[in-house]
Amino acid sequence: MRVLVTADYRTLSQTAAELVIKAVRAKADLTLGLPTGSTPLGMYEELVTTYRHQHLDFSQLRTFNLDEYLGLSQDHPKSYHTYMRLHFFEYVNVSTANIHIPDGSPGIDVDAESARYETAIQQAGGIDLLIVGIGANGHIAFNEPGSAFESRTRAVDLAPETIANARQHFRTEAVPLRAITMGIGTILEARRILLLAAGASKAGAVERALRGPVSQSVPASALQLHPHVIAILDEAASR
Ligand code: F6R
Repeated sequence: MRVLVTADYRTLSQTAAELVIKAVRAKADLTLGLPTGSTPLGMYEELVTTYRHQHLDFSQLRTFNLDEYLGLSQDHPKSYHTYMRLHFFEYVNVSTANIHIPDGSPGIDVDAESARYETAIQQAGGIDLLIVGIGANGHIAFNEPGSAFESRTRAVDLAPETIANARQHFRTEAVPLRAITMGIGTILEARRILLLAAGASKAGAVERALRGPVSQSVPASALQLHPHVIAILDEAASR
């Protein structure tokens, strides 16, 4: 694993965006795996800026998001569908037909949706470049501690600390307790992976994921098993 320690969050975001831009310029129909959360916001901003000023073309790009809350309609203000629209898709020319996000809408048949998602990834030829964040408890996507490294896209219960973290964003609205997420097995099949981590609250998880034993109790430690991972950290997350 390569570890890039950047001076601050802005540099982390620029570094991540530069790697994505390079990959898109090298392969216009790149298949890109995308995270949500606070960490990638700066990267999406950088990508939108480059799209505007340097004529970056995303028209052939195919995207697969890592996860979605279960029980939220796609147009729910706190859904990851909405997040992606507001922070990225609304401003760039990614074709709607090429955007894939697991559907967590109320009443969805989650097993069928999970199988459909895995098939869609296969039919796209697999994921070329997948970007993940990391939870303070070591989760990647919504694979919480204890998740099997062979796991595939499926419904999961969120860990209490993940729910507590989500509560800050949901405020008075009901906080989802479950999600649909790519599995660790799905993630490890991506050809290249970028791990982004910013802030002191992530330092412990980063240390355990990158330098601790490979263990199901730290889902992100599975990334040590992958041959092409670049971890991009800011200084606070690297200490
Ligand atoms: C989001 C996701 C999560 C986040 C992680 C870190 O799609 O899969 O694993 O990457 O919870 O979230 P932030 O960046 O908000 O600290």
